[in-house]
Amino acid sequence: MKTNQYPGFHKLSVQERAAEAAEFSGLTEEELGCLTNPGALSLETANHVIENVIGTYQLPIGVAMNFLINSKEYIIPMVVEEASVVAAASNAAKMAREAGGFTTSYTGNIMIAQVQCIGVANPFFARQTILHHKQEILDIANAKDPVLVKITGGAKDLEVRILDSQIGPMVVTHLLVDTGDAMGANAVNTMAEAVAPTIEQLTGGTVKLRILSNLADHRLARATAKFTKEAVGGEDVVDGVVAAYAFAAADPYRASTSNKGIMNGIDPVIVATGNDWRGIEAGVHSYCARSGRYTSLTRWEKDANGDLTGSVELPTPVGLVGGATKIHPAAQACVKLLGVTTAAELAQVIAAVGLAQNFAALRALATDGIQKGHMKLHARNLATVAGATEGQLDEVVAKMISAQNISVEYAKEILSSL
Ligand code: MEV
Repeated sequence: MKTNQYPGFHKLSVQERAAEAAEFSGLTEEELGCLTNPGALSLETANHVIENVIGTYQLPIGVAMNFLINSKEYIIPMVVEEASVVAAASNAAKMAREAGGFTTSYTGNIMIAQVQCIGVANPFFARQTILHHKQEILDIANAKDPVLVKITGGAKDLEVRILDSQIGPMVVTHLLVDTGDAMGANAVNTMAEAVAPTIEQLTGGTVKLRILSNLADHRLARATAKFTKEAVGGEDVVDGVVAAYAFAAADPYRASTSNKGIMNGIDPVIVATGNDWRGIEAGVHSYCARSGRYTSLTRWEKDANGDLTGSVELPTPVGLVGGATKIHPAAQACVKLLGVTTAAELAQVIAAVGLAQNFAALRALATDGIQKGHMKLHARNLATVAGATEGQLDEVVAKMISAQNISVEYAKEILSSL
């Protein structure tokens, strides 16, 4: 496979798809085996990852096709249990492609470590005092990680905030650290702990928490895409998507679900690449509430030509080195399959996939509703649960849909009549 545009890809067998994907990304037999072999993560390795290990847990890996991001083609590994997600992402990417695909940018690999200082009598004075000693504090932080300093410069800046709280004012220092291609939790937490005594000395207060923030708003990935009115099915559909977005922008109840649809695209890539999906979830949702009111992560607008334009900006605490990415053989194979070589590139791919997934959901909701597509896949799942073999699936699903009875019981009934 030379291009990620492959009509009928979904009709290939699992083995054929895997072989095509491996060819596209240059995976070796062994690397491909890490994806196709359910035992790729050995019990021995798993036992080093977390505590009290009793086994490993499998989920499907699908690949989203058609993505063109900054003129580069990607096939995107997605680890997810929900039907329709991979197909919807591929479909959205195909529609975006008609107007050139996705354009992305990135603010840099800067993570924040917070140092909470309480019991400061004169917080405003203390804030300036900390800032007077900025270089000294950065030097202490950087002394903890000479390797990182060599690669990225390490801790680069400070911010000091004064918070009103239930227990009085707090002076909160943010260390801004360039963690390079690592997510960087360990590096920034170590630095935060190292600077704590100096901050206590400078402020006369007591340092309590020293921990990274998942609201990584100095590590933002951005993506935009245009969807022509012809590609999406007409100007009515463009208006429908804009109205769907307006609902999410105005209402936290809707924003929650719309943003869940975005995370349907993002989390599967995060999991596939061995990253921390709780971290990105926390970052995204707190970013959506930064104005004080929870709202939509994406924005959808109609342009002067009547086409649909979408944009997204999100914190991306993700990395390619350290963590599970380097331990899990399937995560390593997924990174190679995806073809990203830096955390920056991964972050931008994630932003594009989130935007695509949101578009697919809003378009479906604004037109047919999502149940039509979902029900077919749901019926397939239930027919499988009922015991349908590969050869029986299509017939059982067709009968369930025509009878509008999508249940395991009915699937069993059909199976016994075959
Ligand atoms: C379902 O997993 C995701 C959607 O609910 C997202 C949305 O409503 O925008 C379809």
